[in-house]
Amino acid sequence: LMIRIFDDIQSKANKLIMVTAFGELSRLELACLLGDKMVGMNQVCGNLALVDLRIRDSRTITRLAGLFKVGTPLGRIVADEGKFRFDMSPTDLLDEKSKINFCLSLYCIDKPTTAQIYEKLTSSLLSDIRRLGFKKANLIRPGRDTEITSSDILRRKLIDFLSYPTEDGYVIGITEYVPDFAGIHERSTLRPVPASDIALSPMLAHVLINISGVQKGGCLLDPFCGSGTILVEAMLEGFRCIGVDIDRTRIEEASKNLHWLERKFKLPQEASFELKIGDSRRLSSILDHIRVDAVVTEPILLPKFASLPSKDTVDSAIRRAEAIYKASLVAISKVVRKGGRVVLVVPSVRTKENTSEEVELKGIQEAGLREYQPPSSQRFHYPVDVGGQSTRWLKRKVYVFERE
Ligand SMILES: C[S@@+](CC[C@H](N)C(=O)[O-])C[C@H]1O[C@@H](n2cnc3c(N)ncnc32)[C@H](O)[C@@H]1O
Repeated sequence: LMIRIFDDIQSKANKLIMVTAFGELSRLELACLLGDKMVGMNQVCGNLALVDLRIRDSRTITRLAGLFKVGTPLGRIVADEGKFRFDMSPTDLLDEKSKINFCLSLYCIDKPTTAQIYEKLTSSLLSDIRRLGFKKANLIRPGRDTEITSSDILRRKLIDFLSYPTEDGYVIGITEYVPDFAGIHERSTLRPVPASDIALSPMLAHVLINISGVQKGGCLLDPFCGSGTILVEAMLEGFRCIGVDIDRTRIEEASKNLHWLERKFKLPQEASFELKIGDSRRLSSILDHIRVDAVVTEPILLPKFASLPSKDTVDSAIRRAEAIYKASLVAISKVVRKGGRVVLVVPSVRTKENTSEEVELKGIQEAGLREYQPPSSQRFHYPVDVGGQSTRWLKRKVYVFERE
């Protein structure tokens, strides 16, 4: 869920600055949900995207899960003039008489010069805001960083200006939406069986189910469901969920988590779940020949390495995992309806020798699957990187296929 912070901002611009949580994967989510309304999308830097929409579809924007902030560009600061020139009048946006607590979040700057630039920009912004008649403008500073977090914006009711460099200066924008992370936080910390420290987060799971394209009432399968992180997020969207896992204990954990979700959260009435113990290399018989609308799954299938493992150790673990991936992709393809998507997370492991070892997926075409491209002009190259991850040895990459 997202909260609209500033009700008085009636911006007509369709260009949006999006601060994303997962870089390329968040841009894929954007293209899947908004691709048909998109004129273009540029990556400004790692987690900042500039999106140009034909229509500003606020309802869909609030469904995006891989986002920290959405803002509108207001104007720019030109370097040699050192002046903040609003392209839009801020008096349309803010009430001059009220007290404003504002802050600046600066993106896409190399570290050594950040502090200096931050000072320059904030003092220019402050003097311009005062000059425009806002006498009670207070500048709130972030702790050590140059970014104010979404939760600080909500908690302290701040007006957050966004900035990033361009060729001749800095773009200045204003944050209009930030998601409310309370639900996500509750699901990651308070559920009966919390995810292990390397498991995917509810936020990432929600991005993946948005990419799956399933609609309310549709059926989603996670054939390696573990304790059910993906199923929990899918229930919130009102999907009929099926979880399969080879391990009885994991199925019991998923069951506890899903029953907890039903008690704690108000779910759409279409939401339901069914859990089955079984080997996903034989899905058709486990599912009794049901067809599903999509599969979203994260079968990491590697042992947990303590610290950076050697290349040899990783290679042999990956070879073993590849055989299971191959067999289960054939089985998955048989249970997905034509045109349905398969969203698959694969591991990429960093080794002591400083190489990255990845699972290679074989036999995709023979299984009746092809790469999925969302309805936008942008092409995605798979596997897509998941940005913003913290585990030292494990990174996630995502494939999206479509059933032919
Ligand atoms: C990385 S975990 C999935 C984590 C899950 N996303 C969660 O939220 O907990 C992978 C799961 O795959 C299961 N698994 C491994 N091999 C399997 C197989 N052949 N068929 C079905 N499940 C399998 C394991 O028991 C494990 O629970």
